Amino acid sequence: MRKTSVYIETIGCQMNVADTERAASRLRIAGYELVGDSESADVVLFNTCSVRARAEQKVFNRIGEVRKSSRHGKQIVGVTGCVAQLEGGAIFDHAPGVSLVVGTRATDRLPKIIERIRRGERRILDLGERDEDEVWDISPAERHSPHVAFVPIIEGCNKFCTYCIVPYSRGRERSRGASEITSEVQRLLRSGFKEVHLIGQNVNSYRPKTETGLEGFDGATPFSRLLRAVAATGIPRIKFTTSFPRDFHHDIVAAIDEHENLCDWVHLPVQSGSDHILHLMRRGHKASNYMHRVEAIKNARRKISMTTDIVVGFPGETEKDFEATIELVKQCQYDSIFIFKYSERKGTPAAALSGKISDSEKTARFQALNEVQRGIQNEIYASYLGKTVSVLVEAISTRSTEDMTGHTTCNKVVNFGEGADLMGQIVHVKVTAAKQHSLYGALV
Ligand code: SAH
Ligand code: SF4
Ligand code: F3S
Repeated sequence: MRKTSVYIETIGCQMNVADTERAASRLRIAGYELVGDSESADVVLFNTCSVRARAEQKVFNRIGEVRKSSRHGKQIVGVTGCVAQLEGGAIFDHAPGVSLVVGTRATDRLPKIIERIRRGERRILDLGERDEDEVWDISPAERHSPHVAFVPIIEGCNKFCTYCIVPYSRGRERSRGASEITSEVQRLLRSGFKEVHLIGQNVNSYRPKTETGLEGFDGATPFSRLLRAVAATGIPRIKFTTSFPRDFHHDIVAAIDEHENLCDWVHLPVQSGSDHILHLMRRGHKASNYMHRVEAIKNARRKISMTTDIVVGFPGETEKDFEATIELVKQCQYDSIFIFKYSERKGTPAAALSGKISDSEKTARFQALNEVQRGIQNEIYASYLGKTVSVLVEAISTRSTEDMTGHTTCNKVVNFGEGADLMGQIVHVKVTAAKQHSLYGALV
């Protein structure tokens, strides 16, 4: 009998990518076939993101597109992830073609839910918690890359920054046991993976229920102990995102200095350079506390590259507040920044704040900050000219089929000519040209 085929489209952050991999692993074990396009699939799932209005709108546009396809009516369409968790049954009204809505902790039950729909149930809603005995295990075949693996270490968020929907869509922080994490990394190493990203909304808030797996690894916090434990597996490259500034202990920098395989890159979202706005955002720190963390990172033995996220146009953000952000960005000399225009999220405390900023003003601030960063970034990237960097060869470049592409340990994209046979290897590339967001070079 032909297997039922499932297509999963992922929108959103790395946690959603990891959830898709986990769902795909469960579905394949249950006998489903995973396919790469929506047209041919019997079941189409959208794993969704709610962090900004635009991401949320995207899923409804995509559902509309799928409904226009020739197979409309013969396909099962489902919504999973953050929009599912937040909107719940309202999605059925909004998009009548949808027959299953499955929240962020219910992914492991997807095979059973799809089975019930196939047997004739019309609509299923599951926004429940993960079952106690569930484990994160993802088969190598479902990973988004055969060389780089996302390893969730903590799910959820307890921070409730006033603009952010994530604590509502992902629930409270739950850390995975350290021995489960290190075993997974060991398995990945044996399957040929060269790089792992330890992921979580706030990795440095990592707090497992027990010590198991951390014995023998010192550190000021459970997260810095975990970093040392993962480093001891011998996997060539370890990266981690996202670090929450308030919980960023300088022992993380010490761990990076001790272990070559802990990569020289820290993503430390600051959101704003103004104490007034940081307070309204409820980030729990001032700009000066943040700058102390930055100083510790800059004083590391190895040069550590830094990236950040910034929200412009938060309610009440004055010209002066915005200038403080520009000043902070200039001081920090980030290797790159992600700028977001504040997007009001229903149900968050910031949605009730006065002093809303117009969209044209948000755009103007976005562009002004982008311009400042462009200058900084051009200089930083140009400083790599003539230097040799280590690159994990991950794919054929999308720009030119003759080029290969990969990342440095400091997470910069590097493209270089030739080397198709080097896929999955770590090579040395001499940088010959610097663009705004990537480097170009030749194999050494
Ligand atoms: N946990 C991480 C990342 C969360 S979401 C952290 O605390 O940094 C990723 C980024 O999206 C955030 O860092 C923030 O810059 C942005 N973001 C979150 N909510 C937003 C909103 N309502 N409008 C605009 N940007 C937002
Ligand atoms: Fe959102 Fe703040 Fe949690 Fe990050 S720390 S996910 S910005 S609430
Ligand atoms: Fe989006 Fe949910 Fe991630 S809202 S950013 S997919 S946690």
